[in-house]
Amino acid sequence: MAPKNRSAVTYTMLICGMQFVLIFSIAIIVGFSFCTQSNEKKLMFISYLHKSVWYSKPTPQQKNSINTTTHLTTAEAMAAPCLPNWTFNNLTANLKPIYKDFMVYRHCRDFTSIHKANVCKGKDIFLLLVIKSLAGNADRRASVRSTWGQERRVDGLSIRRVFLLGRMESQIHSQSVQSLVDHETKVYGDIIQWDFRESFFNVTLKETLFWKWFTEECQDVKFVLKGDDDMFVNVENLVEYLKEFDASQDLYVGDVFRNWYPDRVVSSKYYIPLFLYGKKPYPPYAGGGGYLLSGMSVRKLHNASKFEELFPIDDAFVGICAQRAKIEVVSHQGFRTFGNIPYDPCIYKMLMVIHRVTPNELWLIWSLLNDVTKQCVHSLKV
Ligand SMILES: *[C@@H]1O[C@H](CO)[C@@H](O)[C@H](O)[C@H]1NC(C)=O
Ligand SMILES: *[C@@H]1O[C@H](CO)[C@@H](O)[C@H](O)[C@H]1NC(C)=O
Ligand SMILES: *[C@@H]1O[C@H](CO)[C@@H](O)[C@H](O)[C@H]1NC(C)=O
Ligand SMILES: *[C@@H]1O[C@H](CO)[C@@H](O)[C@H](O)[C@H]1NC(C)=O
Repeated sequence: MAPKNRSAVTYTMLICGMQFVLIFSIAIIVGFSFCTQSNEKKLMFISYLHKSVWYSKPTPQQKNSINTTTHLTTAEAMAAPCLPNWTFNNLTANLKPIYKDFMVYRHCRDFTSIHKANVCKGKDIFLLLVIKSLAGNADRRASVRSTWGQERRVDGLSIRRVFLLGRMESQIHSQSVQSLVDHETKVYGDIIQWDFRESFFNVTLKETLFWKWFTEECQDVKFVLKGDDDMFVNVENLVEYLKEFDASQDLYVGDVFRNWYPDRVVSSKYYIPLFLYGKKPYPPYAGGGGYLLSGMSVRKLHNASKFEELFPIDDAFVGICAQRAKIEVVSHQGFRTFGNIPYDPCIYKMLMVIHRVTPNELWLIWSLLNDVTKQCVHSLKV
């Protein structure tokens, strides 16, 4: 038993020794290879870890600098900000935040421009197409430029175009959208963009800034078509109609709303609380989807607007200023700012303005209208 035992003991010792040698040599190899690695490689590895773990998310400061610095020139960045006025804060306590925003900044009416199209100066323009757009609506601008908004001559009279923009409200993608607007400015030169935040209740502000710009730069423009980027306009019909008028007289024509009262449904997008407008109807006004003004009327509206507080509903605000300026609004049935119009090119031939049209529909209407092979039987004139 004993010799057998002894040999078992030596056998176990041998195994243990071999294991020890193996572990020891692995330790030496690993230790040696780590020591011989170049410092450069080690630093790379460490800095990679550092970057991927600690710098994978931008810091708040980095985020802010991405969103705000790019397109403002130093002059604009230094322009004095308009301070909020909290006098009316209590009135808006129970309303949606946009009402508070509106009341607190209502007195802010002076904004610098980020882009200022040079369309008017020194040019004899018969009809200026003035189109409200949003920075993000590049597709609509493209469809307008390639269809009814083409700059051209109609009956020898010059037609020019300009888009009115504010600063994009949403911060998501706002930098790339702004780069696109910058690019469009370079290629087409037809954008005026002011440095105010785009919102439904700031459209009136855009209107007044346009009147100011027009009064300063567009003395020789005879007529203005004011509209949105989702409409179709029959420019030939407009020119035919406008030829009869004298641009140094007043002209304010469209789809006219008479005796309309402010919307008092609190949940409505157009809700107007009593403190913004009393218990009386609006003065007559043309629906904002598209209307005509003479250059003289735009200048008068600009003057009148200085005596009126901004009002959230932009087309009603035009009516308020027109009343003050004693400009009469004229109704014309060629302006369809509401309702569905069927896909009939013969109908489009008779109308002046159709509101709520997608870019696709716009191209379709345009191609139908310009298809000379299709003749309309009932070629009515409006
Ligand atoms: C705020 O608005 C009220 C009412 O229009 C005006 O009386 C007041 O002077 C304004 N306050 C400031 C600080 O501008
Ligand atoms: C506005 O609200 C505050 C606090 O709710 C109140 O103290 C103040 O008197 C109110 N001011 C007006 C003009 O109603
Ligand atoms: C209008 O724009 C101004 C300037 O960017 C902003 O301070 C204000 O909150 C905006 N108003 C609304 C109603 O969004
Ligand atoms: C607007 O007001 C200015 C300054 O008061 C005046 O010179 C100008 O004639 C007015 N413009 C119109 C079109 O009434």
